[in-house]
Amino acid sequence: MSFFDTRWPIIQAPMAGVQGVALAIAVSKSGGLGSLPCAMLSVEAMRKDLAALRAATDSPYNVNFFVHTPPVPDARREEAWRTALAPYYREYGIDAASIAAGPGRAPFSAEAADVLEEFKPAVVSFHFGLPAETLVTRMRSWGSKILASATTVDEARWLEAHGADAIIAQGVEAGGHRGIFLSSDLGTQPGTFALVPQVVRAVNVPVIAAGGIADVRGVRAAMALGAAAVQIGTSYLLCPEATTSAVHRAALKSDQARNTVLTNVFTGRPARGIVNRVIRELGPMSDVAPAFPLAATALAPLRAKAEAKGSGDFSPLWSGQNATGCREIPAGELTQALAEGL
Ligand SMILES: Cc1cc2nc3c(=O)[nH]c(=O)nc-3n(C[C@H](O)[C@H](O)[C@H](O)COP(=O)(O)O)c2cc1C
Repeated sequence: MSFFDTRWPIIQAPMAGVQGVALAIAVSKSGGLGSLPCAMLSVEAMRKDLAALRAATDSPYNVNFFVHTPPVPDARREEAWRTALAPYYREYGIDAASIAAGPGRAPFSAEAADVLEEFKPAVVSFHFGLPAETLVTRMRSWGSKILASATTVDEARWLEAHGADAIIAQGVEAGGHRGIFLSSDLGTQPGTFALVPQVVRAVNVPVIAAGGIADVRGVRAAMALGAAAVQIGTSYLLCPEATTSAVHRAALKSDQARNTVLTNVFTGRPARGIVNRVIRELGPMSDVAPAFPLAATALAPLRAKAEAKGSGDFSPLWSGQNATGCREIPAGELTQALAEGL
């Protein structure tokens, strides 16, 4: 029994854009902690998914949010970004003037907290820091445990001081967005097995290891270093319950998956993905990519056109450094395999 009342100390990492409620249900039913990522969901869609989760299982589940501060749109930077993308628009016959602006990822809000109160999930987790103290206190008052990602010892200490019940120590191997929030210096980011024992020493709350864990040996190793649980993302991306696109699945299954990098070209914030054309030609870190999450808007039509032709040249092919745990088996079976003999 783990500290959040699941059979296994395994959290299926919330992965916005590549999963919905089906993956969370499958993992929670099999004794892990399934997660519903809400960064790209409207409040209404979130309520519908939470109702589906509650109807499907009595087991605990996690609901996840981003807590970034929405940027003030910068017209000059947007124009510079569209200029950088102009050759690709021409290649694909896209009219740049027709692309509507607008952020695709919204931060946690009081309105989202109102919906959570209807469901009182066992766990609520955050990426990029924590929401305002009043909201944290409110969620804890109805019994939710609050988790948040730390990428450094300083961030772990900050999260503990601001009300986190457990810290997700996210090593630099991890797929998807870095949870980094106290600094923008990517030189500060240790790997999972350097970070976990240091965070365990620095805080008094349980520590969850994330990044590069792909089988039960990795789970055991993280726990030997003091982790109370693990959070695993990449390994679930080929499960039938994930909504991972065809081009993303193909990349994860290919040798290309061994070549990942931190890049900001897809959203404006550093995230780990498999190297593809747009990363090679404009990144991996671009000075002109608009602030998170605005960079995604201008790329969206390119991504759609390329994917329609079977190309992942403009898609975020998020993956951690260890994709060897990806298996095309139901998520419940994968969870059992990750917990085998624990
Ligand atoms: C495709 C993908 C999407 C992700 N999206 C989110 C997200 O929405 N919220 C979040 O807190 N973490 C997100 N992450 C990061 C995970 O929480 C976790 O840190 C990471 O998956 C662990 O490393 P691993 O991928 O090597 O297992 C994402 C990771 C991946 C691979």
